[in-house]
Amino acid sequence: MSQNIIRILLIEDEDFDARRVKNTIRQFEDKIKIVSVVSNGDAALKLLKDTVHEYDVIVMDYQIAGTLHGVELVKRIKEIENTIQIIVITKLTIDLTDLNFARTLMDAGAFWYCTKYPNDIEDYIYQPTDFIMSIFNAYERKKLEEQRNKSHKKLNTKIEQILESKQIISSSAEMEKVKYDIERLTTNEATVLITGPSGTGKELVAYNIHYKSKRKYENFVPINCGSLPNDLIESELFGYEKGSFTGAANQKDGLFQFANNGTMFLDEIAELPQSAQVKLLRVIQDGEIDKIGRTKTIKVDVRIIAATNKDLRKEVEEGRFREDLYYRLNVLLISLLPIKKRPDDVQVLTEHFLKQYSFHMGIETPKIPKEVMDFMSNYDWPGNVRELKNVIQRLLFIANSNFGIDDIKQAIIPALKRKDENGVLNFDKNNIITWKELERDLKYKYFKFVRENSTSDADTASKLGLAPPNYFRMSKELGLK
Ligand SMILES: Nc1ncnc2c1ncn2[C@@H]1O[C@H](COP(=O)(O)OP(=O)(O)OP(=O)(O)O)[C@@H](O)[C@H]1O
Ligand SMILES: [Mg+2]
Repeated sequence: MSQNIIRILLIEDEDFDARRVKNTIRQFEDKIKIVSVVSNGDAALKLLKDTVHEYDVIVMDYQIAGTLHGVELVKRIKEIENTIQIIVITKLTIDLTDLNFARTLMDAGAFWYCTKYPNDIEDYIYQPTDFIMSIFNAYERKKLEEQRNKSHKKLNTKIEQILESKQIISSSAEMEKVKYDIERLTTNEATVLITGPSGTGKELVAYNIHYKSKRKYENFVPINCGSLPNDLIESELFGYEKGSFTGAANQKDGLFQFANNGTMFLDEIAELPQSAQVKLLRVIQDGEIDKIGRTKTIKVDVRIIAATNKDLRKEVEEGRFREDLYYRLNVLLISLLPIKKRPDDVQVLTEHFLKQYSFHMGIETPKIPKEVMDFMSNYDWPGNVRELKNVIQRLLFIANSNFGIDDIKQAIIPALKRKDENGVLNFDKNNIITWKELERDLKYKYFKFVRENSTSDADTASKLGLAPPNYFRMSKELGLK
């Protein structure tokens, strides 16, 4: 127990009882101190309003003069400061078998109550050791509640920061509907499927769903089903027991265990191999995971959000994705449109990213000339919001805060050039670009070319001689993913 002196406020209107309380505590006066005594409820509230943090425990007589007393007073004190603990002393005339009385008092927020000794016992208000113990216990409870409040406060600040950085910017009716759906999902635990082309904000939506849900204090575990080779994905997701296969020197918990009570975000769900699809179905249906090499299953409670930029229906029709799993995932569907189909968003997103990046660069937020905005509104944005974000960053880099139509064209160039034939680089004296841009362009074309001539992401990575996570990251940076 901490060494601090426990500070008491005594609410008591009879001097005789106040004296008995003081005397009961006397032996512990180095640990417990009655800081103030007040004789009615109003005076107590008035005092506590300004100085509640100067007290740890309140000892109050149940029957005192004035209109404010008893259960009502307990409630009003707890409203001022929820962590403060209240010990109530009642007259012996209270019916001790009346459980309702006790319940009402506890429900109001009292920590403990005792019945005072009859008046012929002049030295003590109650059995001293019990009385002292209850004060110590009340103090401990106060400390615990303070700590819990503090850690929740910290977590809440962190969650607010995450939500701030994952804010969904939009003004189109389509995205407003998406935001409305996310709000409705805050009280709903259903599995969600998010679909939409690359860069439309699927991951962003998944973050918002988790951090606005009741599971927000628990883990949010994103995993990209396409970024791991087939033979690794199952052990990552479900874990394995020691010795279950060559190389399994120790047991390993799967990500589903890590996500227990929280949310798992299964990105690129269409890439999940068939055998893992079966196991995932079991998690969704029975809340059980099949750890490799373990005969007993493990119970988990995980909310699942899946995302894909593929047409999952078509994957089912063509036999690559299990139909039963498709229906289990597609309980609530959020589908995101490419931004060219929601032109209203281009302007607000442009303004948002301009503000964000110019702030980081320490320059004033530039105004967007009309012809630049018109150009952007008419452009196709094949890489969607991700591309728009990159273009704005490039634009500020090229032109700082003073830009015109040529600058925006130049900022979009690498993207425009993507429409060229694969594999051929046409040098154009009217269109000299930087080495970095050329490198990026070449990389983009070659990655795309190899991908189009491979059977899967893992195959592409292997042909390029890259580890799959690196391949994945680079594709994403290029706007290919
Ligand atoms: N409405 C939006 N408001 C603000 N930022 C957005 C919005 N939509 C997307 N972004 C940003 O664009 C980038 C791409 O978004 P995100 O990664 O969520 O897309 P995605 O649909 O998951 O793409 P992919 O299919 O390639 O994985 C991120 O930096 C994200 O923060
Ligand atoms: Mg994504």
